[in-house]
Amino acid sequence: MSADIRRGEMLYEGKAKRLFGVEGHPEWILQEFKDSLTAFNAQKKGSFENKGRLNRDITSLVFRFLASKGVPSHRVADLGTNEMVTEKLEMLKVEVVVRNVLAGSTAKKFGIEEGTPLEKPLTEFYYKDDALQDPFISDEQALMLKVCKTQAELDQLKTLALKVNEGLVEFFGAADLRLIDFKIEFGRRLSSSGLGQIVLADEITPDSCRLWDKKTGERMDKDRFRRDLGNVKESYEEVFGRLRDHWSKKLV
Ligand code: ADP
Ligand code: TMP
Ligand code: ASP
Repeated sequence: MSADIRRGEMLYEGKAKRLFGVEGHPEWILQEFKDSLTAFNAQKKGSFENKGRLNRDITSLVFRFLASKGVPSHRVADLGTNEMVTEKLEMLKVEVVVRNVLAGSTAKKFGIEEGTPLEKPLTEFYYKDDALQDPFISDEQALMLKVCKTQAELDQLKTLALKVNEGLVEFFGAADLRLIDFKIEFGRRLSSSGLGQIVLADEITPDSCRLWDKKTGERMDKDRFRRDLGNVKESYEEVFGRLRDHWSKKLV
């Protein structure tokens, strides 16, 4: 397929990806994963060589695995070293976070020690708006902000997020990685008749997940950059290497 795909005009440049049109395919976009790395709403900036390639490859494995578990995503195909062709979606203005173990902002908010396991996974909604620094929102606030149409759709997001969590615990667990928490985004398929289906979009990478080594408890994700722990590149490489060794031959 890659021979037929030609990059169109740039539609958007974000913190971690650039989006392009695809010539002759208005229903697709081309997502280029950048080498840059940001934290705290881009107040802290960095980069490392090959980061875009690693995150594209990790996202590709994750979405292929989730597809095998019946969770649809926007992925159409990988392209080149650091690009992915995806369906063009109408993104929902919400970031859905699922936590298995308390860490990061929610641990801090309640003064509970990082690493405290939760009895059941916790889902949280954040309003996707950089200018407001993605604030936490309640279900009612999500409906007020028209993040989606109905309470039933919000419930559907939670159900999908918990299904993604179940899959990801298995997916990362097989690579000796403990999934602490993660953030995902959803979009609506464009449809000429009625409301399009809501599917998983964006990326799933060590930028958007907390992953701790099962044996040593060492952090293997973007917290190494956020907290100046060093070995950021090496950790992303290790995560991809383990996932590739376990999963690449098992997935289509
Ligand atoms: P940010 O916008 O937060 O800086 P990125 O640099 O990762 O983040 O930019 C990617 C942007 O593309 C995000 O805003 C994300 O919501 C959006 N996006 C992801 N998947 C799709 C899709 N399939 N269709 C349209 N937009 C998408
Ligand atoms: P948090 O503990 O800072 O709220 O983060 C929860 C999870 O969401 C963690 O795995 C990192 C991820 N995340 C993002 O992907 N993007 C963000 O902007 C933030 C704040 C967190
Ligand atoms: N995604 C946010 C940023 O890039 C915050 C974070 O991941 O810590 O700035």
